Amino acid sequence: MSAEAAQRIALLRQEIEAHDYRYYVLAQPVIADAEYDRLMSELRDLEEAYPELVSPESPTQRPGGLVETRFEPVAHRVPMLSLANAFKQDDLQQWEARNRRLLEGRALGYAAEPKIDGLAVSLRYQGGRLMQGATRGDGFTGEDITPNLRTIADIPERLNEPIDLEVRGEVYMATADFEALNARRLNEGEGLFANPRNAAAGSLRQQDPRVTRTRPLRFWAYAAIGLPSVPTHTEALARLADLGLPVWQDAASLSDMDAVWAYCQRYEQLRPTLPFEIDGVVIKVDAVREQAELGAVGREPRWAIAFKFPPIQATTRLIDIRISVGRTGTLNPVAILEPVAVGGVIVSRATLHNEDEIRRKDLRLGDVVIIQRAGDVIPQVVKSIPERRTGAEQPFAFPEHCPECGSAVIKPEGLAMRYCTGGTVCHAQLVEQLKHFASRRAMDIEHLGGKLAESLVSQGLVRDLSDLYHLDRATLLTLDRFAEKSVDNLLGAIADSKARSFERVLFALGVHEVGEQTARILAEQFGSIDALATATLDDLLAVPGCGPVVSQRIHEFFAEPRNLAVIEKLRAAGLQFRARAQAALAGPLAGESYVFTGRLATMARPEAEALVVKLGARASSSVTKATTRLVAGEEAGSKREKAQKLGIPIWSEDQFLAHLRTVAPEVVVPGGAS
Ligand code: IVH
Repeated sequence: MSAEAAQRIALLRQEIEAHDYRYYVLAQPVIADAEYDRLMSELRDLEEAYPELVSPESPTQRPGGLVETRFEPVAHRVPMLSLANAFKQDDLQQWEARNRRLLEGRALGYAAEPKIDGLAVSLRYQGGRLMQGATRGDGFTGEDITPNLRTIADIPERLNEPIDLEVRGEVYMATADFEALNARRLNEGEGLFANPRNAAAGSLRQQDPRVTRTRPLRFWAYAAIGLPSVPTHTEALARLADLGLPVWQDAASLSDMDAVWAYCQRYEQLRPTLPFEIDGVVIKVDAVREQAELGAVGREPRWAIAFKFPPIQATTRLIDIRISVGRTGTLNPVAILEPVAVGGVIVSRATLHNEDEIRRKDLRLGDVVIIQRAGDVIPQVVKSIPERRTGAEQPFAFPEHCPECGSAVIKPEGLAMRYCTGGTVCHAQLVEQLKHFASRRAMDIEHLGGKLAESLVSQGLVRDLSDLYHLDRATLLTLDRFAEKSVDNLLGAIADSKARSFERVLFALGVHEVGEQTARILAEQFGSIDALATATLDDLLAVPGCGPVVSQRIHEFFAEPRNLAVIEKLRAAGLQFRARAQAALAGPLAGESYVFTGRLATMARPEAEALVVKLGARASSSVTKATTRLVAGEEAGSKREKAQKLGIPIWSEDQFLAHLRTVAPEVVVPGGAS
């Protein structure tokens, strides 16, 4: 048995050393921290079970990291230790129990602060002046990176007092700075950093400090050596702050483990909102004297421990890349992953944005990849790990034809995305179009969600957007799990949507690049769909906010006969294709706001609404102070009461029809009542 254990131990040590080298020296780890921790704890467990196999060279017996030779070595006068990890509350309780045993039951006070994800450095001040700065290295010997550290604004050249002091702290990069740096590198065709910590490490280990200077590095201090007469860690931090060093403002002095646990949980909650990455909370016995009494075992002090949050990065396998087709025909690659827990959530898909990203990250089907989740955002694939390839991995070829409709795929010049040319022929596009059209900020058609959009398209009930306004009640009732009430609600909501303003209709049409804001401006500037549709490229370019790309997309949209046909059908259905001011000028009911309630004898409510809208009024489903007229049919209920209360004039159906015949005799009122 122990031969097997010895073999496994040797393998683990070899593996861990290789990872240490990649992590500390190359700043290019190939596994996520959580996986590294697993290897380490397996090794530790085995060594515990077979103490005869423990050797001083084992990674469990010394701090990780190797010394690189490019920089001058610096011997640390006090070793830079690492920390034991706690993953659950129980681990923390055991840690406290051991400390109390060692200190004969004395109650301990604690200090806690976030464990920021950067890299440890040591700064030596003499007479208040920064003399030397070094990396951690192997914990005993680090590297002299003084010129690089001097480029970091957070690290003072001079302290506020002329004292001798060694400061320990973390150099890190804020998340936003990291993203901006990567965006810049992408532009310049340089390799991307996997995460802020790697970016900080890579930036600090530059031979040329001028390169480091261009990197947005930050620093905060978490320990000091040589501060006379400070009895606690908390006070040491306050003293460091007085000396002009950045310390964590919310470092807390905590009286017991309940408070420690509450702090850990609070920071786990805060984690996604912090401007930099933390991977846990460091808990320290607060009193310096007790720290000394507790001492260290191997590479780890007994008086401090790191509570590690569940990882938000993880390694897993890329099983497949599937293409989903977006509303505008974009082919969006989606990574299908072997399910893995990341930050407490099981992740099995991640976005890949576009083809360039797949190429840049060198992703192949079957690759081991690093994925990450930040807050609520969709998981991302950070990179592949080519070192872990077996040779069976397949490069991904983008399809030449739309996987949904078979239409040709094009990649317009200068754009990163590929597009399906199928337009509304492509069901996937039509479903997305419909979802967008019905969405709250567009036509706001309640009850029309993704599922329904899919069945409407797949059943052939909607072939273009205008079909929505001719849906047949009886046919809808045949749809799966669609009860009478839901059908009526849907039809009501669709009818209500006819009252939406021109700018919203324009946004809902889903012209590429035309968002809400652009739609508003276009509606204002052109006033009607006809003016917009016949605008030249130059006309469009003259519109504020319409750059060449947007103008081009709008122009293309109106050059497509299929789009014009849909617009005509929507117009016939009663949608608004004029800006409000012009509609007001145009109709005899301009400025009015109608609400219909109860059952009408001569027409359906939606028809009545469309009618008044056509005549320049607004139609709404709820009575407000802005309502100018309520038309009450049979069995009118609460809306009538509300209108009465608000003093809004109420008409019967007959009065309404009579008024129409007066103001708009050209309108043939169906039913022809009295
Ligand atoms: S105290 C003996 N405090 O975590 C105690 N370390 O795994 C030494 N770290 O190398 C460390 N934030 O780079 C301490 N608030 C904090 C920390 C912190 C991050 C890093 C540090 C150290 C590693 C230990």
